[in-house]
Amino acid sequence: MTTYAIHVQGLEKSYKELRVLRGVDFGVAPGSIFALLGSNGAGKTTVVNILSTLLKSDAGTAGVNGFDVAARPEDVRESISLTGQFAAVDEILTGRENLVLIARLRHLKDPGGIADDLLGRFSLTGAASRRVSTYSGGMRRRLDIAMSLIGNPPVIFLDEPTTGLDPQARIEVWQAVRDLAGRGTTVLLTTQYLDEAEQLADRIAILHQGRIIVNGTLAELRRLLPPAEVEYVERQPSLEDVFLAIVGGDGKGGVGGDGKGGVGGDGKGGVGDDRSVRTTSEGRS
Ligand SMILES: Nc1ncnc2c1ncn2[C@@H]1O[C@H](COP(=O)(O)OP(=O)(O)O)[C@@H](O)[C@H]1O
Ligand SMILES: [Mg+2]
Repeated sequence: MTTYAIHVQGLEKSYKELRVLRGVDFGVAPGSIFALLGSNGAGKTTVVNILSTLLKSDAGTAGVNGFDVAARPEDVRESISLTGQFAAVDEILTGRENLVLIARLRHLKDPGGIADDLLGRFSLTGAASRRVSTYSGGMRRRLDIAMSLIGNPPVIFLDEPTTGLDPQARIEVWQAVRDLAGRGTTVLLTTQYLDEAEQLADRIAILHQGRIIVNGTLAELRRLLPPAEVEYVERQPSLEDVFLAIVGGDGKGGVGGDGKGGVGGDGKGGVGDDRSVRTTSEGRS
């Protein structure tokens, strides 16, 4: 049996009448990168907030690093770090001062050494003594992620780590995230960007209408589609094609309803009709 670093089963959450999570299930292997992909408002932050003990679920169970989030919230909090959608760095301080401050707050030995190590890992050594107010968006986000690593949590949540960043900054953040997983940290990231999931994740789960409608590797998701279509040149289906084929261009079609369209079942579930696939290609040509 696999021991998951993060495990979620039958998770439900409503805000008054709004049923946001309607039975969410997934597991994340230790040391892997798992992308929770969904459009704006799909419930990604709600899942992350439940996993990081900021929010209680209405039903279902969730475990992080072997601890149940409801029964052992303290242990969960000691096992994780959370980097939210909006950078939480102090603009007035330098990059190094931000890191030293957090290491001090956590009562760690050698805060300066910890700061210097992280500055090096995130390619911020040259900017270490500059105020964060002079940093680019990508530098700021990298510092934010570096700050969340102080104390070496085994599990890290990155909620939309590159939303609002320019293309170059996104690439820099992606590299930082890859390095994390390379060191054995388990990463759960949320994203609205199909290419981001494609670039980073070992497994991708699509959250749609309150359920995980697909969960698999990129190769498995691609297998949901017919083989590459011949346009002017043969083009492999992108994750965007997979996404649109599954949820449909109108956001209503595809599986969604019964939530059975997972990868690996009968191999048929979740594939949209020809029309939606072709529409996608036309839209991109
Ligand atoms: N505290 C709240 N009270 C009421 N509705 C909320 C609250 N938080 C989120 N929602 C709603 O729940 C849905 C899912 O939100 P969220 O988890 O933030 O989605 P995502 O992170 O995927 O964009 C959205 O429709 C959002 O407006
Ligand atoms: Mg969100």
